[in-house]
Amino acid sequence: MRKFPEGFVWGTATASYQIEGAWREGGRGPSIWDTFSHTPGKVLHGHNGDIACDHYHRYQDDVRLMKDLGISSYRFSVAWPRVMPEKGRVWVKGLDFYKRLATELLENGIRPAVTMYHWDLPQWIEDEGGWNNRDTVSRFEEYSEILFSELGDLVPMWITHNEPWCASILGYGVGVHAPGLKDWRRAYRAAHHLLLSHGRAVRLYRALGLRGEIGITLNLTPIYAATENPEDAAAVERQDMFQNRWFLDPLFKAQYPEALFRRVDHVTGGFDAVKPGDLDVIAAPLDFLGVNYYTRAVVADDPSDPLLGIRHLPGEGPRTEMDWEVYPDGLYDLLSRLRRDYGNVPIYITENGAAYDDRVENGRVRDAERVAYLASHFEAAHRFLEEGGNLRGYYVWSLMDNFEWAFGYTKRFGIVYVDYDTLARIPKDSYFWYQRVIRENGLVPAETAETAR
Ligand code: FCB
Repeated sequence: MRKFPEGFVWGTATASYQIEGAWREGGRGPSIWDTFSHTPGKVLHGHNGDIACDHYHRYQDDVRLMKDLGISSYRFSVAWPRVMPEKGRVWVKGLDFYKRLATELLENGIRPAVTMYHWDLPQWIEDEGGWNNRDTVSRFEEYSEILFSELGDLVPMWITHNEPWCASILGYGVGVHAPGLKDWRRAYRAAHHLLLSHGRAVRLYRALGLRGEIGITLNLTPIYAATENPEDAAAVERQDMFQNRWFLDPLFKAQYPEALFRRVDHVTGGFDAVKPGDLDVIAAPLDFLGVNYYTRAVVADDPSDPLLGIRHLPGEGPRTEMDWEVYPDGLYDLLSRLRRDYGNVPIYITENGAAYDDRVENGRVRDAERVAYLASHFEAAHRFLEEGGNLRGYYVWSLMDNFEWAFGYTKRFGIVYVDYDTLARIPKDSYFWYQRVIRENGLVPAETAETAR
């Protein structure tokens, strides 16, 4: 059996709005996702996170599930509106829940990995322009200071932002995520301010002399050409700038892929958010890069597309419930590329997993496809490690089924099934299979899922 290095971190990941519920408890204020999901037509079936998985009240049971699973780290996010619920109000007691959660985890031998921003911006900050407004960078810095001083002793691993590409592009440009705006100029500013706030938080963390690790999580997508034509190769370059280098280059090279901004000037009206010194702040050295990987993109040149001149094609692999192609080689290619272009930076896969149409039969969920998905991606990660890649750990998305943003509760990503009527948790076959992987610290064959329980 192929083994992972000793001390390799096995984990699971979640996010506050997707699992907590208790949206008006403990002094929490409204977030942009409350507003968005309560607006008819924004989320499938009108679903929202008011109750979600009720993790806020059931966290002890959930930690027990993690303990039995055997993970050494759990990635969760803090809901910013629990700490800064309304303008001018800092509510430190809003962190009590996270203190209890972190303590419970530590007592069970699980290291907390905290995402500081997983998309639930306090609504009052959005009312002042949200990420489009440079002042939000200062609000994030204030929030960071509270987190570091209150939770710094309990939390050894910090992730400033989750997928700033989604928070800016999907939230302010495409409008399918909160706050639901369709304005490319704002999306571009939002992206810059998210990155700047990341850099400021990293600086603050260093200045406070805290001893944990701090990094950022990006959603990265390896891009492949539909044909060998040079036009398609150029399309790959453009999509790669848009999807990956837009965030990687400033973080690791203190520069933006300028050609991208020239290309999209006609929709953004010019990218005017960058002030002198910003890029040095953004490029503050990181302890690790968090990588969220789900699928790849295949693109062709298409002059009729006004933004990037690109058309997406479906790859030939099988597809998940999200209609995302299963393409494990993409993870290996992506990791290898990061190493080649950005140095052998320590990497954690902070999310990887798949949604399938799971059913409970006689108390059991036979999610063989999810096991196969995870097994093939673990294998790709192992190949990278064998070649000397600096991969430190792997967080499966997700511990349990949850609120999948604009898709509501219709997409199940969990290795634990959640019955949304009773809120009962039912570990799926993939949970028991993952338990074996962790116990062996090695690539247990997917077929053993049948007997893993
Ligand atoms: C990522 C998000 C995460 C989850 C997965 C499926 O983009 O970070 O919250 O929704 O996708």
